[in-house]
Amino acid sequence: MPLRYLVHTFGCQMNAHDSDRMAEALKAHGWSAARHRDEADLIVINTCSVREKAEQKLRSEIGRLASLKARNPGLVLAVSGCVAQQEGEKLLAFAPHLDLVIGPDNIAELPALVFDQRLGAPARVRTAFDMDAPRFLAAIPSPGKAPVSAFVTTMKGCDERCSFCIVPHTRGPERYRSSREIVDEIARLVDSGTREVTLLGQTVNSFRDSALEGPSRPPAADCDESQFPELLRLIARHIPGLKRLRYASPHPRHTSQALARAHAEISILAHHVHLPVQSGSDRILKRMIRRYSRAEYITRARLLLSAHSDMTLSTDIIVGFPGETNADFEATLDLVREIGFVSLFGFKYSRRPFTPASRLHDDVPEETKSERLARLFELAEAQTQAHLATLVGTTQTVLVEGASKASATRDSGEVLVEGRTGRNEIVHIAQPNDRTIVPGAVAEVEIVRANKHSLVGVLERFQVDASSRRLEPEQQRRFLPILGAS
Ligand code: SAH
Ligand code: F3S
Repeated sequence: MPLRYLVHTFGCQMNAHDSDRMAEALKAHGWSAARHRDEADLIVINTCSVREKAEQKLRSEIGRLASLKARNPGLVLAVSGCVAQQEGEKLLAFAPHLDLVIGPDNIAELPALVFDQRLGAPARVRTAFDMDAPRFLAAIPSPGKAPVSAFVTTMKGCDERCSFCIVPHTRGPERYRSSREIVDEIARLVDSGTREVTLLGQTVNSFRDSALEGPSRPPAADCDESQFPELLRLIARHIPGLKRLRYASPHPRHTSQALARAHAEISILAHHVHLPVQSGSDRILKRMIRRYSRAEYITRARLLLSAHSDMTLSTDIIVGFPGETNADFEATLDLVREIGFVSLFGFKYSRRPFTPASRLHDDVPEETKSERLARLFELAEAQTQAHLATLVGTTQTVLVEGASKASATRDSGEVLVEGRTGRNEIVHIAQPNDRTIVPGAVAEVEIVRANKHSLVGVLERFQVDASSRRLEPEQQRRFLPILGAS
């Protein structure tokens, strides 16, 4: 019987991506996925420490695993991700039933480390940053089985020092992947059925690669030393099968005219950007060490918005940063209105160890943080609703990802598929009786209704390109009842 693993993921997309790579590394060594923790020979908890709540959740999760380990002493327990990097040896002291503590740069070593553990090696901590020869694990897609929408890492670490953020401590300094490796991975994914790629990095648009042509010369006033726009052009040029290209998350500092030009000129580039702002108050932006002013952010955001008439922006906002007054918070709300974000992620400030802001007095009461967050969400919801309503009656191009989660909840028995527009709005599409829409198909859809966070549309026509995948049995199960490729 093959050995079985379970990877439990907390936190961001980067973590989900790391979890997928760990699963692939294990599979390459003969492991298979466990359906339940009771049948697992290895459990990996891939952790997040960006806010305190996530870290607390992890500690109780680790605690729960102690009884499982007591019942099954052969079980290997590993903690990976940002808390592993941050706490190292301290985690073993806190939870002696753990066997492995593995930092984000050490996940490739997982199969070998687990092998040693199964032979009785003492508990290990591996949290070394790979500064000299940074490694980026590529996806290993099976033919026809790659997800329609996939994530590809282009850099790791972060050189910014936002005063609230623990990421530079847990993920180390910036290291860039070679553009060749990036293009190769995307090409392999597209050959295996992927149609949309999101490039991932902490400051994804600070990308540099000496092999690329274009900037990296001393920047002019409006220019930026980053070569991210060149990377986008390279990908679009070399991978004709790619239908859509997105990236997350850019830093406003590297959001240049060249990037806006790339948006205007590269047809596969999404008409949407998630551009974290954090606050609309200059005083708070300064204390956050974001390295831009409100006016500079607005200029950069407008550059992007000017690339297309239907371009949209979303953002991240922290409320209750130390010293944030009502007036500062009002300035944030005002900015949300001024830019017209179509959606946002809002967070209450959470004091993190090893961050410059941890020395500031966390002086905004919890109650005030909650009130501000509720007001922020109320505004954001209203803007989302207003935006979605403008799309009713229009025709949108939707990249179909699979069966709609809404299908299961409908009494009518009507089958829905789900996909996204070029701006990332989710669209549920009623599947016509006489035709079938496969994942990866590009559909022209008339929008007939706006839900709270998604759209409902009626198919006008769809196109499945010659390279579109036939569904593997596993996917047919997952996507049923969307049948066979046309
Ligand atoms: N550059 C990263 C940001 C990682 S953290 C990216 O690519 O998304 C994601 C978001 O969490 C940040 O944009 C910020 O809004 C929020 N965040 C980070 N540290 C925080 C803290 N200490 N308290 C509350 N929110 C925080
Ligand atoms: Fe964190 Fe700021 Fe970098 S939010 S990941 S330090 S850009």
